[in-house]
Amino acid sequence: MKSLNFGDHIEITTKNQSLKGIYINSPKKDVIILKKNSGYNMGVNKKDIKKIKVVKKASKAKKVKGKGSIKTNKKLPNITILKIGGTIVSKLDYSTGAVSAKITAEELLENIPELRKIANINYKDIASIMSESMRFSHYNLIAKEIQKEIKKNKNLKGIIIPHGTDTLHYTSSALSFMLENINIPIILVGSQRSSDRGSSDSFINLTCAAQFIAKTDFKGVAICMHEDISDDTCLILPGTKTNKIHTSRRDAFKSINTQPIARVDYFKNKIDFLTKNYNKFYDESKKINTKYFKDNLKVGILKSHSNIHPENISAFKNYKGLILEGTGLGHFPTKSFDPLSKVNEKNRKEIERLIKKNCVVILTSQCTYGRVNMNIYTPGRELIELGIVPGKDMTTETAFIKLAFLLSNYKKEQVKSLFKENLRGEISERILPHEFVDY
Ligand code: DGL
Repeated sequence: MKSLNFGDHIEITTKNQSLKGIYINSPKKDVIILKKNSGYNMGVNKKDIKKIKVVKKASKAKKVKGKGSIKTNKKLPNITILKIGGTIVSKLDYSTGAVSAKITAEELLENIPELRKIANINYKDIASIMSESMRFSHYNLIAKEIQKEIKKNKNLKGIIIPHGTDTLHYTSSALSFMLENINIPIILVGSQRSSDRGSSDSFINLTCAAQFIAKTDFKGVAICMHEDISDDTCLILPGTKTNKIHTSRRDAFKSINTQPIARVDYFKNKIDFLTKNYNKFYDESKKINTKYFKDNLKVGILKSHSNIHPENISAFKNYKGLILEGTGLGHFPTKSFDPLSKVNEKNRKEIERLIKKNCVVILTSQCTYGRVNMNIYTPGRELIELGIVPGKDMTTETAFIKLAFLLSNYKKEQVKSLFKENLRGEISERILPHEFVDY
């Protein structure tokens, strides 16, 4: 079988037909996948193929590693763009119909000329990865690149990180914990539609992020995404208290149990802070203190459901940490109330076993909003007696990142006490009634 490349236009002759289309990656090695002109994919068994003709070779993807800068204007602040990946730096590959070709930061900037009026932009391609595939090692890579930029450019006003939206809030939490006392804004920006399409939300998200960096004294890690489905305003959202709660809407990101930090009006060029103490964790008398993740640390998440078995829990027996995403105010099926729920007692024994093996077990809630309070009901109290640590009002994702960060850098007893502290704004002392999504 001749060597084919993703995106080649080919013609396949089988015993009884001839098929034309675009060769795309196949999950099965004995099947060739063809993207037909209709846009639908068709699988052809290799054993049925008599001949394959390459009608037109795929265009070579442009080099994805690059760095550079745009000529500087002394009156403008300096911003660096560190490109990671995601839809914001992808484009619809019309030859295959899939969003797959990665664009460089340079190509991204070519689409947004207005950025040049806001700041002197340096850029660097750090990675070209879809965010669902990112790991702790990527957080370490980004933190190191941020420090290199700060060291290299004394007048750096801030950094923008174009990133996939699926796990953008994991990375914003990770960088928040890693870069203690960061003295510039680090703004993560995603988009729900690729930048090569006129309707993309990327332009406004990036421009609002640059405006916010250029015009405010904010320090720390935050997210900049659309406020609603119109194209008028973006929100600056807290790095440790934000979740992506819609698969495709432009306003998919919402702050959880707290106010957004600020609103940026794209057309009026106006910035309104929505919280007063937005630099609460910045101390100008101290330096940046960076800690990293242990790349191969095992920390898990187990979502509670109505038929949890002990094996669901014992699967984490070699893990250092486990987030139990429980229900309501902080519950997990560990009690038997009748013969039908007797198996739950074995769940409890498995959790006990994990804790005895020095696994730090945290309990968060599947309720996106509100605070875990395990003292209200007896089952919750019994879980605390087991040694489970309440996750307060943290999202499951932030709790997971915080636990992994602490386990990467501290001994177990310190981990449990630090987990209860509000380190980077991840815990709200109070949750106001209006801090809830109004459906
Ligand atoms: N694969 C998804 C990611 O990189 C694309 C979604 C997006 O970037 O909006 O998160």
